[in-house]
Amino acid sequence: MSVLCIYCAGGLGRDLLALMQPEDMLHWKEIVFIDDVSTEKVVNQTKVLTFQELLDRKKDDCEFVILNGEPLYREQLYQKVIKHGFCMGKIIFGSSVSASDAVIKEGSIIHCQSIISSGALIQENVFVGKKAMVGHDVTVGKHSVISACSYVGGWVNIGEESFIGAGAAIRDRVTIGKRCIIGIGSVVTKDVQDNTVVAGNPARVLRKNDSYKVFE
Ligand SMILES: CC(C)(COP(=O)(O)OP(=O)(O)OC[C@H]1O[C@@H](n2cnc3c(N)ncnc32)[C@H](O)[C@@H]1OP(=O)(O)O)[C@@H](O)C(=O)NCCC(=O)NCCS
Repeated sequence: MSVLCIYCAGGLGRDLLALMQPEDMLHWKEIVFIDDVSTEKVVNQTKVLTFQELLDRKKDDCEFVILNGEPLYREQLYQKVIKHGFCMGKIIFGSSVSASDAVIKEGSIIHCQSIISSGALIQENVFVGKKAMVGHDVTVGKHSVISACSYVGGWVNIGEESFIGAGAAIRDRVTIGKRCIIGIGSVVTKDVQDNTVVAGNPARVLRKNDSYKVFE
């Protein structure tokens, strides 16, 4: 059994841990937070180590998940973890439902009560939030975030490092490019080009995603 290392002890990480049920924790012998900026040593009764402290202590039996909602940071922390020879883990909440033919790759988190439908492909290090619905034959690119309560229709393709805001709905067969941001509660009916921020119902282009960041 491995140690689950939750990288980032911020709101997303604390929330995930607080919502994990005993059966969701059975895969790991221990759970720790890894955080390079936190001044706390313990969060939610869980030890907080820096990445460097972890390097000094152990390596072989650790599995990482990244609990940061910013796709850019998800990508950067993922590269750091891999570069140092660690493995990525995977969290699939027992209260979520995944089709038997869906593929969920390493590093991904499928949060509580979310649904991953038939034929869906969730690439590495994707975060699928609480009660999100990923439709059949959807592909979600690496490091992307599908926020809570969002709805992704059938055959939708979401590029790498994109962010789907909470409660957004994406029409079937739409393609969302790389590094796109879909605003909270938006309804996307047309394809979205790479590096574009859209919002509203129907969603309209607000600006280019020049900073590659959702939360400025
Ligand atoms: C889309 C988003 C990134 C835009 O942020 P921004 O570039 O700072 O844009 P602003 O807040 O300055 O808004 C620009 C305009 O777009 C409108 N707008 C912003 N987000 C909108 C949304 N989701 N739906 C409709 N209109 C929106 C604003 O009202 C504003 O309109 P105005 O110019 O007529 O006043 C942000 O609003 C958003 O939705 N972030 C995602 C948040 C989220 O999902 N959080 C949940 C996970 S933690």
